[in-house]
Amino acid sequence: MREEPVAGALSAAAPLRGPGLVGGTVGAGAPVALGDVDLDAHHPMPTGLGELDRVLAGGLLPGSATLVGGEPGTGKSTLLLQALASMAAMGKRGLLVAAEEAAHQVRRRAARLGADVPGVYVVEATELSAVEVAVADLAPDIVVVDSIQAVSDPELGSPAGSLAQVRACAQRLVAFAKVTGPALVLVGHVTKEGALAGPRTLEHLVDTVLSFEGDRYLALRALRAMKHRFGPTGETGLFEMGEKGLVGVADPSSLFLGDRLLGAPGSAVTVPIEGYRPLLVEVQALVGRSSAVPRRFVTGLDPGRVGFLVAVLDRRAGVPVGDRDVYVSVAGGARACEPAADLAVCLALASSMSGVALRCDMLALGEVGLGGELRRVSGMTKRLAEAKRLGFRHALVPGPGGGRACGAPRELGGDDTLRQLPGTTLSEALSLAFGDHLVARRGAGPTRLPDGLASPGAGEAECRDDRGSGVHIAREAFA
Ligand code: TYD
Ligand code: MG
Repeated sequence: MREEPVAGALSAAAPLRGPGLVGGTVGAGAPVALGDVDLDAHHPMPTGLGELDRVLAGGLLPGSATLVGGEPGTGKSTLLLQALASMAAMGKRGLLVAAEEAAHQVRRRAARLGADVPGVYVVEATELSAVEVAVADLAPDIVVVDSIQAVSDPELGSPAGSLAQVRACAQRLVAFAKVTGPALVLVGHVTKEGALAGPRTLEHLVDTVLSFEGDRYLALRALRAMKHRFGPTGETGLFEMGEKGLVGVADPSSLFLGDRLLGAPGSAVTVPIEGYRPLLVEVQALVGRSSAVPRRFVTGLDPGRVGFLVAVLDRRAGVPVGDRDVYVSVAGGARACEPAADLAVCLALASSMSGVALRCDMLALGEVGLGGELRRVSGMTKRLAEAKRLGFRHALVPGPGGGRACGAPRELGGDDTLRQLPGTTLSEALSLAFGDHLVARRGAGPTRLPDGLASPGAGEAECRDDRGSGVHIAREAFA
């Protein structure tokens, strides 16, 4: 079934041979000065898939081992087949060890992806020794084992797929790759709990652990480096699954905001940093009447954090959401799990509660503290620059630290100016965002709330701003 190796393809791209190429099993040798260690031999091979190379900090290193984990259906097989084809186009020979699928199934998928190109080889194998023989025969630059859970060694005695089998087979393959030279990629299925035999227990065996995440029913997929011996972790690659496989998302912010319903209540835009990139996302909230115990449904955010924000909004800003059912999600399958998104979550909730939409060219950034204060977040400049790029004109942000007074509005220069509206408390931010729509009294004393709590914002009459001087948010506004 196997094609013959393409003559000449290997000579230009002969994999590096010899022990101790990468991490781990460095062979015995004389100590060398650190400055004399040869770096030239250890260049990553780009996969040619921009988002994958971004996460790998350049590409796959010869002799290295990479584990790609993810739930079934996220697109691991698709991604790696595309990577093999792309690398083949650059003269690298790739071997796909099909341990779960038949070669003809792989071929069909490859045809659909345009990945049935010379330089990509497939072998149906589930026994460890067969995999080793295939690798030794073909001498590929990259070996993808799909999946490691389906490979076993009958000599071990333990049943195929068991933890002991998966671990032992991975260990042997990693050692084998280090000696023979190909970049080894192991695919590992993970269940929602991350519990399935394998991936979690393999992490210490490999140099790099990538996690491929995404709902199989949504197009968006995120690839994250959880461990990487040859570069920084924390970078995220974004892909969209389409008819012809995975396509890197060039402008994620535009994608996430693409279907936004302008002028709808319950929506607020914020800018989390995903990996090293600021992305604009839409936080959506729906507040409903609760029949019994108030419920919270959260997607794309930390549910505990949303519960916290509901409590702060209720107790510190007088927005009575505490006893309501609350639904909060980040649109388009995106995530916003950092505190910088707090303010947007609160604004979306207040907007849903009141039925008043935020202006559509406004975004919000800021952590909300238990006292209802706004706290500054890191990376403000790049977050705001991304917002400005997409035409946003107003940014609600935390004011200068610690002061009681609002800062004066500031502007990011340029033709399409982004105006920053600094506030020191959540209450101030709400009045800046909603203006007179939610403001019951201006310059009045503390509002008495039904349960006897003093209104937040009391005693802040010195606050100087064109819209927010001494404002108090009344519960009636949310009735
Ligand atoms: P697959 O790569 O098989 O996922 P995994 O190996 O992680 O289990 O494919 C994931 C899903 O993507 C599968 O349900 C079918 C779908 N898909 C497409 O939408 N377009 C495509 O071009 C391909 C190959 C798959
Ligand atoms: Mg698969």
